Amino acid sequence: MVVGVFDSGVGGESVVEAIKKALPDVEVIFADDKKNVPYGSKSPDELFKLVEPILNKLSKKCDVIVVACNTVSTTIINELRKVIPVPLIAMEPMVKPAAALTKSGVIAVCATPATLASRRYAWLKNEYAHDIKVLEPNCSDWSYLIETNQMDHQKIRDRIDTACDEDADVIVLGCTHYHWIEEDIVKIANGRAEVLQPEQPVIEQLKRVLGNSSQH
Ligand code: DGL
Repeated sequence: MVVGVFDSGVGGESVVEAIKKALPDVEVIFADDKKNVPYGSKSPDELFKLVEPILNKLSKKCDVIVVACNTVSTTIINELRKVIPVPLIAMEPMVKPAAALTKSGVIAVCATPATLASRRYAWLKNEYAHDIKVLEPNCSDWSYLIETNQMDHQKIRDRIDTACDEDADVIVLGCTHYHWIEEDIVKIANGRAEVLQPEQPVIEQLKRVLGNSSQH
């Protein structure tokens, strides 16, 4: 079984690591788009033009593709599913589990501007978080800073401290780039908030898809 993983940049590499650790027998092929990273400030049309050819090429070598990019998943996954001939597993902000988990009634979603502006994200909030407060800290330059290795601790601390001070007890990492700073965020939250990111549920979903296709 061959699994393709796609992201604009280094966010996908954290997902590749997690998949390899959980499924050591599976071959993983990673594709990125370093030329055009960050994706978080692009429109759905721009994203489709960039991503469709990459996924089409990747699909020739894979049984399934993990779209390890919340920005792509929340904006154009339906359009991509129409044209890419293998199953696509999407990654999107974990609003539903966060809403189920919060005791304070406040969650914080860290994501790119394109994800936060997407219809899918609006739907998730409306469906699962309509009766709680959803903070959206400004993380607009985070993926660029992480991609170029320039992220600084103080910037993360400012956003996370503010979210915790505003009573958020769940912080959602809605961009795979932020998985690289997860440890730092957990330390800053220091027990005030739980930090959620979707690698584990995606691996479970991947196991189901691979299990199904090996039966055919
Ligand atoms: N890692 C991606 C995400 O999960 C995209 C970040 C970016 O390119 O701005 O949203």
